Amino acid sequence: MLTLTLDDFRETRARIAPYIKRTPMLTSRQLSERTGFDIRLKAELFQRVGSYKIRGPLNKFALMPEEQKRRGVVCSSAGNHAQGVALAAKIHGIRAVVCMAKNATPAKIAATKAYGAEVVLHGMIWDEANEKAKELVRDEGLTYVHPFDDAQLIAGQGTLGLEIVEDWPEVDAVVVPIGGGGLISGASMAVKAFNPKIKVIGVESSDGPAMQRSIEAGSLQTIDCKTIIDGLRVRRAGEINFSVVQRFVDEIVALPDRDIFDAMIWVMERCKLVVEGAAAAPVAALLHDLVKLPKGSRVCAVLSGGNLNLDQLRGLDWN
Ligand SMILES: Cc1ncc(COP(=O)(O)O)c(C=O)c1O
Repeated sequence: MLTLTLDDFRETRARIAPYIKRTPMLTSRQLSERTGFDIRLKAELFQRVGSYKIRGPLNKFALMPEEQKRRGVVCSSAGNHAQGVALAAKIHGIRAVVCMAKNATPAKIAATKAYGAEVVLHGMIWDEANEKAKELVRDEGLTYVHPFDDAQLIAGQGTLGLEIVEDWPEVDAVVVPIGGGGLISGASMAVKAFNPKIKVIGVESSDGPAMQRSIEAGSLQTIDCKTIIDGLRVRRAGEINFSVVQRFVDEIVALPDRDIFDAMIWVMERCKLVVEGAAAAPVAALLHDLVKLPKGSRVCAVLSGGNLNLDQLRGLDWN
């Protein structure tokens, strides 16, 4: 069972700190007034590659044996994980192959290549691209980098939680989006190691609440996932992630894609920050009063990334 200590997170942060930014904690008067809480936003959209997704791979590659590094790494993703793995691999001088479905957004393919990764297009959905990645593990001896279910990766993503408590030690609650559970499993352990009284609240789309269903059932569930928000879209959460969330997360709330997209626009308009859907989920939960805490509570919402698919934005009818 994975449990990381404050020292673990401090060591991990020291390992990756030379290559990442320490993203700011911004105040939001509008969100604070609207909710009655004292709110700060962990602005991880300003991280390198535009999301927290570089933290975990940087840690994993720093700890990787030389021989494995020489062979290279592979992942399958058309989103932030691809870019995180690509840049982290480049920093560590490792060959990276990223498998994507053939219908991946051209801009994401270009961004991943620009960070130095080789892109292999295979199949029409993620599962098929992932099969190709597994094949490269078998045939070329590349090391597979899982997007969330990996202890070293979780330690890296969790450094975001350490930064929150260091920069705002009085924080009462942290609100974090959940896809497969990589970010929240790391961040929850870091925050609770600092002070077990800090509440950790996860947010999913109710159009695909894989983690919430699993927690309710008491075991990992595979769900029919309909959310179109790519950071939140998984049919099954990770094993390690589930076990950490069971022990370290106080509550999971969920609300529909539609409300999360509205929150994305709200953040852009009111806070002047470009956030992607997954990153707007914590704000959506706050705007819809799903976070139940005493008035005046100090609450940090994690704005996990800003890699917005502009085509999706154009398709919204937001009146
Ligand atoms: C911006 C952003 N936020 C949150 C998530 C969810 O993260 P996790 O899968 O670690 O739960 C993702 C996943 O891709 C993401 O890209």
